[in-house]
Amino acid sequence: MSAITILNSYNSLSKKVADIVEEQLKENRISRFILPTGSTPLGLYKELVNRELDWSSVMTYNLDVYIMNPSHSQSYQTYMKENLFDKTNIYPSNCQFPDRNVQSYEVRLKGIPADLCILGIGTNGHIAFNEPGSLFDSRTRVVHLDEQTIQDNSRFFGSVDDTPKQAITMGLGTIMDSKRIILMANGKNKFEILNKAMNDEVTTMVPASILQEHNNLEVYYCDEK
Ligand code: PGA
Repeated sequence: MSAITILNSYNSLSKKVADIVEEQLKENRISRFILPTGSTPLGLYKELVNRELDWSSVMTYNLDVYIMNPSHSQSYQTYMKENLFDKTNIYPSNCQFPDRNVQSYEVRLKGIPADLCILGIGTNGHIAFNEPGSLFDSRTRVVHLDEQTIQDNSRFFGSVDDTPKQAITMGLGTIMDSKRIILMANGKNKFEILNKAMNDEVTTMVPASILQEHNNLEVYYCDEK
């Protein structure tokens, strides 16, 4: 079982996780972060940009990408540029995304585990694009997205038909190698799955449940949505 800290607003959730990132950056300028996309971390990135931190020695690794043109307006590469990278002094060459050379992404992460991994959770319990049924020791790979995920993400693409069906994701094993993990969730529609993932059995049918076995996990939730 893992405790869920409930915050009273989306602003508090964003600020709490921004504090953790800021502390990590101040403790070690050469930090390695694993970063999420989606609607949940938008407030976090806004907060971080406002704090004008020094990102010049930071390395970032994104959790996942859709298989699509990286310059598309809805790609995760574009999302990161628009919401964080172009608004900080981070070096673009220090911002890594999974690509079809999945082994190489693993090698880049394997030698030195990330100092901090920030995650969201999908309504089906996925973390990154590790859909239900993903193996706990899975590594970076190409995946087919779940019907539920395609449905959830179609809000960004206008229709289910236009929503990508495949992605490249870090594996659950890759994520679990991180030194410290922060899981953030916002919205009443996330509470049931979050609670299940943190307090019920550890099962591949709820991929986030593996996080219960991480020795340095914090979980933050608010129900503002
Ligand atoms: P969301 O997605 O932040 O857009 O709700 C989270 C996720 O699917 O991991």
